[in-house]
Amino acid sequence: MENHNEPLYLYPVWIRLWHILNALFCLTLIITGLSIQFSNPTIIVKFRAAVAVHNVAGVLLSINYLIFFLGNLFTKNGAYYVIEVRGFFTRLKSQFHHYTIGVFKNENAPFPVTMESKFNPLQQFSYVAIMYAVLPLVILSGIGLLYPEITVHSLIGISGLDYTDLLHLLCGFIVTIFMCIHIYFCTFGKTTLSNFKSIINGYH
Ligand code: HEM
Repeated sequence: MENHNEPLYLYPVWIRLWHILNALFCLTLIITGLSIQFSNPTIIVKFRAAVAVHNVAGVLLSINYLIFFLGNLFTKNGAYYVIEVRGFFTRLKSQFHHYTIGVFKNENAPFPVTMESKFNPLQQFSYVAIMYAVLPLVILSGIGLLYPEITVHSLIGISGLDYTDLLHLLCGFIVTIFMCIHIYFCTFGKTTLSNFKSIINGYH
């Protein structure tokens, strides 16, 4: 039987290291990406500098992503990302109900954190989607934009670069929205700051 007052060591060093670097690279990429998108000499970062920093941060984020991918492949952290399909939608609904109504009535969380299940269903779904679909697409489309010669020449009369660019923007936008919602939901811990402390010291 698990003692619920005992701190759970949920975030090993490599996850914490990956996460802090990932957050820093994402922030840098969002700021420079917006500067490139709305290129205007008066905007925060100058265009040429924004492109250079964006490229370097993109390469570093991709290398850092490998740490996450391999870490999850070879350690038991990967098990938290395996979605049990049966009944998942019902569990998702009950977590959604908790976030929209339950928390405001001080109800207990329907899926308390344990060593066996670190994420609630909404966290699990969003983490799997962002880490195994959106981020890989940002990285792949970014590589395509960095090396235009490897992208499809043209498809139904439209340049392959245009599709790659659109995909990159769309996924970058989703990462930005994810990050805002993610940080907001991380404040729903035991206290507002407890989840932020966990991802720094490793203990829930
Ligand atoms: C300043 C930005 C960020 C802050 C303050 C932040 C905060 C946190 C906190 C407090 C946790 C632990 C709670 C939990 O497990 O849900 C966490 C976990 C996580 N965050 Fe973030 N985050 C940030 C950026 C990001 C970004 C940009 C991504 C992905 C694109 C991301 C993906 C994740 C994932 C996948 C986990 C779970 C890691 C694991 O235990 O396997 N975070 N984050």
